[in-house]
Amino acid sequence: MKILVCPDADTAAGRAADLVAARLRHDPATTLGLATGGTMEAVYAALIARHAAGDCSFAAAQSFNLDEYVGLAPDHPCSYWRYMREHLFGRVDFAPDRTHLPRGDAPDAGAEADRYEAAIRAAGDIGLQLLGIGANGHIGFNEPTSSLASLTRVKTLARSTRAANARFFDRAEDVPRLAITMGIATILRADEVVLLAVGAGKADAVARMIEGPVSAFCPASALQMHRHATVIVDEAAAARLALRDYYADIHPNGI
Ligand code: GLP
Repeated sequence: MKILVCPDADTAAGRAADLVAARLRHDPATTLGLATGGTMEAVYAALIARHAAGDCSFAAAQSFNLDEYVGLAPDHPCSYWRYMREHLFGRVDFAPDRTHLPRGDAPDAGAEADRYEAAIRAAGDIGLQLLGIGANGHIGFNEPTSSLASLTRVKTLARSTRAANARFFDRAEDVPRLAITMGIATILRADEVVLLAVGAGKADAVARMIEGPVSAFCPASALQMHRHATVIVDEAAAARLALRDYYADIHPNGI
């Protein structure tokens, strides 16, 4: 794992955007794996700015998002489809038919998960996978005790995840109980993985991911098994890393 400890959250988001832009320049037809959540908003804002400045283009790329809530149609205000349209797809030059998310409103969520997994494989798997992390160590919606060999499937959300994501909904009880998520093995097939975590609320999960045992109890720890994983954190999220100074010696200021 490459650990980049950045001075603040904005710098950390900018570093994540740098890696995505570099991948697009190196391989314009790459398949990006995309994430949602509050942390990613700054990454997408930075990518929109780079695109506007002519630094990167999504025109030849395609994308697969990590997950979607079961029961929410693409036009639902809290769907991840809507999030992606607002924060990225509607503001850069992706071809409309080249961006993919699971359909939360599919009549058979299990079948939709299987279809989505097959579509990722048919695309040749993910080139660069962008990830956030839940305070409980989840990636995508792979909650603790998810099989490290899991593929795209329906998962039940943890109470703490529903509580954390309630801020995006009108009422806490509106947060769906189920989601379709890429599996941990799906994520690990990506050529390159970039995980971004900022803020003190992620410090414990970050320490368990990087320095704890590889365990289904902390799904993000599976990234220890990936050959090309970069974890980008700000100082607050790095606060519980035993070897923080070592990582900072290797990559001063996250550079
Ligand atoms: C959700 C998403 C994850 C994301 C996590 C953290 O549960 N499914 O992909 O990493 O939230 O989100 P935030 O960045 O808002 O803390």
